[in-house]
Amino acid sequence: MGKEKILVIGACGQIGVELTLELRRLYGGSSVVAADLREENNLLKGTGPYVSLDVMNKEMLHVQVIRQNITQIYLLAAMLSATAEKNPSLAWHLNMQSLLNVLDIAKEEKLTKVYWPSSIAVFGPTSPKQNCPQQTIIEPVTVYGISKYAGEFWCNYFFQRFHVDVRSIRYPGLISYKSEPGGGTTDYAVEIFHAAIEQKKYISFLKADTYLPMMYMPDAIRATIELMEADASKITVRTSYNIAAMSFSPKEITNAIRQYIPEFETSYLPDYRQAIADSWPQSIDDIVAKKDWNWKPEFDLQKMTRDMLMNLQPNLIGS
Ligand code: NAD
Ligand code: SER
Repeated sequence: MGKEKILVIGACGQIGVELTLELRRLYGGSSVVAADLREENNLLKGTGPYVSLDVMNKEMLHVQVIRQNITQIYLLAAMLSATAEKNPSLAWHLNMQSLLNVLDIAKEEKLTKVYWPSSIAVFGPTSPKQNCPQQTIIEPVTVYGISKYAGEFWCNYFFQRFHVDVRSIRYPGLISYKSEPGGGTTDYAVEIFHAAIEQKKYISFLKADTYLPMMYMPDAIRATIELMEADASKITVRTSYNIAAMSFSPKEITNAIRQYIPEFETSYLPDYRQAIADSWPQSIDDIVAKKDWNWKPEFDLQKMTRDMLMNLQPNLIGS
């Protein structure tokens, strides 16, 4: 893997940190430029170049792309579902304009590839709850979901009309220990591990039986890179691919953690995020991703729980 020069925008976020580290491992540190509004994340320091960048400033973004000889962009900057509901117009502006800025520059500079993530949040209450298929009724009721669905069609449009090779995945809720989640409805599934270790109790903002599609970060990073490395002829979906790994409720993840921390207890105090969760499917069908680029998850709830706890508190579980 040589010659490509990658720009990761939103590199200090939950996905960005781990994706940047993996891309640097594969392509070499100096070939992957990390960019964010925030200060450089500690885990990224010393592993490759970092630039402070606002993706909304198209001119500055364009200058960086030319100055750094960028050939690929991974755009991760966005406002997630829960934060977006607090400021819908700002969320719409950031989530849409950042994508349009990147797609325009990709077209103009003839970038080789662009990556932009969508979400299971594109689905709404009228979509099937179980094994929600790639193509179905899609009527999102959150501003985040609306922005992701519109974004999917912008990606498809730039591919069809201008041949920009933009690829996308509808991530489920992502669980990780290296960097913190940034304001989503699925964040409880990360918070719960920290609370279990530190306080032995957790107050869930979703009801006990709220099932949502979830994925462990190593699977999400591998999926992203496998999609980006796949031959263009294999990519039949130019909006965004469904992918799946596991589906669980707050009660089920509590029980999984209790296998290692038996005294751990969860209580339930649902807030505005319950309505967001209730509008999404409980599980996802990813047959098209499996067929097109051989997607296969590795982590289920039990394996993910063990790995999370081993990494957050190494002395808790023997190897
Ligand atoms: P995050 O909030 O953790 O990270 C986003 C990063 O973007 C932050 O570091 C933030 O500082 C940066 N950013 C925000 N505005 C910016 C701007 N104007 N210019 C430059 N940087 C800016 O989000 P994440 O969880 O890493 O998500 C990344 C992408 O994946 C988003 O598009 C999100 O919708 C999508 N996604 C995430 C999940 C998940 O569970 N984490 C699930 C589905 C989809
Ligand atoms: N994890 C994300 C959220 O809850 C789903 O896109 O917003």
